[in-house]
Amino acid sequence: MTEKLLIAGNWKMHKTPRQTVEYFEQFKPLVKGLESVEILICPPFIDIPAAVESVKGSPIKIGGQNCFYEKEGAFTGEISPVMLREAGCEYVILGHSERRHIFGESDEVINKKVVAALEEGLRVILCVGETLQERESGLTFTVIETQLKLGLSGVEDKLDKVDIAYEPVWAIGTGVAAKPEDAEEVHRFIYDKLRELNPQKAEKVRVLYGGSVKPSNAESLLSQPHIRGVLVGGASLKPDSFAQIAKIGDTLATSKG
Ligand code: 13P
Repeated sequence: MTEKLLIAGNWKMHKTPRQTVEYFEQFKPLVKGLESVEILICPPFIDIPAAVESVKGSPIKIGGQNCFYEKEGAFTGEISPVMLREAGCEYVILGHSERRHIFGESDEVINKKVVAALEEGLRVILCVGETLQERESGLTFTVIETQLKLGLSGVEDKLDKVDIAYEPVWAIGTGVAAKPEDAEEVHRFIYDKLRELNPQKAEKVRVLYGGSVKPSNAESLLSQPHIRGVLVGGASLKPDSFAQIAKIGDTLATSKG
């Protein structure tokens, strides 16, 4: 394994700028000295300046939860990749299931965002995942393959700047994570598909698992060979639980060498 495990927190629509500062005051000392994981937090847009200021001098990285595909223009309510970059973000999450299912984002729109974000020099975390109905209809692998291929269309040569988050929709916010061996099966499939897209760079991609990750299940998930990080929602909102997950990742990565 060449890259560090990525321990990423997606705050979704939680916390104000003041709460962001308070969070990092508590969180930073808890993760000081962890060297085998990369820690990323993606707060709401309005909290990004406070977050970037708070993590100065630490290795913690900040990312956006979404962005639009144009640089600027008459797009009320949108944020561009160049804005995220200038604000101090290194990453952006794209294609999250809440963007797909609540806000109706198609694979085509997500792909335009992926292209634009990579052009701006952001690293992209592209989210993929099946709904319960799709899983029960035996469509998991078809859905994942389509989301990957369409989402990454035209950027196959930039896979070293991309990470993938496998987030089964039925596991998000439900408290019921995928079984580690079931997640591993999908992660292995994702790596197979990434190798078809770019055999040289597929191994550079970290495929993260997301969906009800918490301190109590992080070890069993992260110890699977093809799970190279986690994308954490609810459990990233509390400094101590997110720090515990980061420590579990660090211990595992250190023991794996
Ligand atoms: P939960 O960890 O709250 O299930 O959310 C997962 C998620 O959607 C992260 O992007």
